[in-house]
Amino acid sequence: MSAFQNILTAVENGVETITINRPDKLNALNKQTIQELHQALAEAETNDLVKIIIITGSGQKAFVAGADIAEFANFNREQGQELSDSGQKLLFDFIQNLSKPTIAAINGFALGGGLEVAVSCHIRVASDNAKMGLPEVSLGVIPGYGGTQRLAQLVGKGKAFEMIMTADMISADDALTWGLVNHVTTPENLMAKCNELASKIITRSPSALASAIRSVNANFADGVNGFETEIVEFGKCFATADFKEGTTAFLEKRKPSFTGK
Ligand code: COA
Repeated sequence: MSAFQNILTAVENGVETITINRPDKLNALNKQTIQELHQALAEAETNDLVKIIIITGSGQKAFVAGADIAEFANFNREQGQELSDSGQKLLFDFIQNLSKPTIAAINGFALGGGLEVAVSCHIRVASDNAKMGLPEVSLGVIPGYGGTQRLAQLVGKGKAFEMIMTADMISADDALTWGLVNHVTTPENLMAKCNELASKIITRSPSALASAIRSVNANFADGVNGFETEIVEFGKCFATADFKEGTTAFLEKRKPSFTGK
């Protein structure tokens, strides 16, 4: 595994926890942090010891308080477009399209790019002190890391517009009601809840999970018919060792032992 300055990584029992670690800047995403996250996730994708990834922020206060405002405050139009384009490719689309499940453990402020990281993950769990929002219009800019798209996909267009237009933060309980997060826990139980979800998912077929990710994502991809993707992915499952193992184990009344092949 690579050595990183702004993130911490730890793998235990198939679960890789990636902690964004700039607590004095509330874990704001600067260029280097985005690059390091990309590298860690790319390594996780190919590491057979990693089955599922949890992303969180260090400290008690913030998951991620957004893109690093100091870094882009003097950018011009072309630099702004490049920031959004490269960030989306390196991190936000990359998380969404990872073949391994990702869970965001939202341990505090998830603002701007921080909320955009969370909504790129497949599942979100928030601690009850978390605050979530897209404050960009208060800075004269819009969410540029997929927030205008993925937030609306999760909570619907009306609520996404309200969050984006007011720039207000919402509580973890409201986020739960709105369908923005899957679960809310106490701060002390946050990682335990994420690990509980992970320990269940880890027993499932990795190749089927990858097919499920591709199929669900296809619903939101431009010019792609998600139903057709599902048909193709469904068929592909029948050619996997996991499918043979899963169905054989069921018929033999035992637990399956999947290899992801
Ligand atoms: N980019 C760069 N630095 C950030 C940051 C960001 N998005 N969010 C917080 N920080 C830095 C602050 O500048 C401060 O650094 P300093 O101690 O060197 O001055 C440090 O993190 C602590 O933040 P501070 O504002 O003092 O904490 P707070 O408890 O008073 O307020 C927030 C917390 C989250 C409400 C506030 O930091 C905030 O509004 N951050 C920006 C959120 C945002 O607009 N994000 C979208 C960016 S597109």
